[in-house]
Amino acid sequence: MPLIVDIHTHVYPPAYMQMLRARKTVPYVHDPSDAQDPRLIILSSDDDPSIPLDQRGRPVDSSYWDINVKLDFMRQHGINTSVISLANPWLDFLEPSEAQLWSERINDDLEKTCAEVNNTADPGKILSLEQKETLFAFGALPLSAPSSDIVVNEIKRLKTLPHLRGVIMGTSGLGKGLDDATLDSVWSALQDTETLMFLHPHYGLPDEAFGGPEVTARYGHVLPLALGFPLETTIAVTRMLLSGVFDRFPKLKILLAHSGGTLPFLAGRIESCILHERKFISGGGDVQGPQRSVWDVLKTNIYLDAVVYGKPGLEAAIAASGGDRLLFGTDHPFFPPLDDKESDWPSVTTNYKAIHATFDENAGVVEGVLGGNAARILNLK
Ligand code: URA
Ligand code: ZN
Repeated sequence: MPLIVDIHTHVYPPAYMQMLRARKTVPYVHDPSDAQDPRLIILSSDDDPSIPLDQRGRPVDSSYWDINVKLDFMRQHGINTSVISLANPWLDFLEPSEAQLWSERINDDLEKTCAEVNNTADPGKILSLEQKETLFAFGALPLSAPSSDIVVNEIKRLKTLPHLRGVIMGTSGLGKGLDDATLDSVWSALQDTETLMFLHPHYGLPDEAFGGPEVTARYGHVLPLALGFPLETTIAVTRMLLSGVFDRFPKLKILLAHSGGTLPFLAGRIESCILHERKFISGGGDVQGPQRSVWDVLKTNIYLDAVVYGKPGLEAAIAASGGDRLLFGTDHPFFPPLDDKESDWPSVTTNYKAIHATFDENAGVVEGVLGGNAARILNLK
């Protein structure tokens, strides 16, 4: 049996849930306090006063906060190791004065959870990754803190927590997007500490992109999640590229959610547009055009998850970044089975099937994508 590592799997730790329950503006949790599951309202498209409170957002159950439910899910789907991360919208919305405290609390909590799970069988005994369910984590950053020094300090502190293997971050950065020059100290700290950053969408696109709020709401979460999320990631990483982040920090390591959004598919078009605009972006304005090509960045700085649910997406990902940079993930606890009687998660089995259908001719690639690449890149021992 190959080693299976899930690098895209989220938690809303109990303390974070409690904080969301106390809030009345997005993001918040509405707990109807009858027999129904609480509702999680995190996407701006869900914050619609015309929808009754107990129908807004989506129902959440213990799979969002109970680590034992995650471990059961791992056993059920043959996953040996999970690299857990705080789910969106992370700590982006916090008051500046609260950000540092919350990131330390969440990151210490993640470390403690991993340590407890990894040591329960026999403390002190070194287990191989295949022997039992093992956890590692990506930390959350205090991006709304009053100074980027606080963010930099947390990046350095995470290196002292044994189970932390990187950070997860959204596309807003310090509030102005990822081409904001004031992020340079953060990129520098990530590069110097060799910390991988998992870039994950949350904000999607404005409802107007889909025809307005009514059209967006008409189709549930399909438009924001299927299209808004991947385009948000693509735009964020393209802005990093255009503003020369990868020229200034050539050793940055970025893992892109959902196989890079649409970056692998659009890389050629982005490259072509840069070529035609180069005179403008390097000459006229205050933006120096990127010196490195999209293709070079994809093969050197970018890792992609394999959460794309189909062969064409995986083929584009592997063609763009290479089979040694593609990593299995599930996006648990999102996209659960729709039917109570169904125990397997179709979102997971669809990704397994797509990986086998795409790479079965080449067993080495399958093993790498399912777990070998993650174990090597994230140093999971
Ligand atoms: N996947 C996520 O990671 N977040 C969401 O809000 C929905 C799907
Ligand atoms: Zn996710």
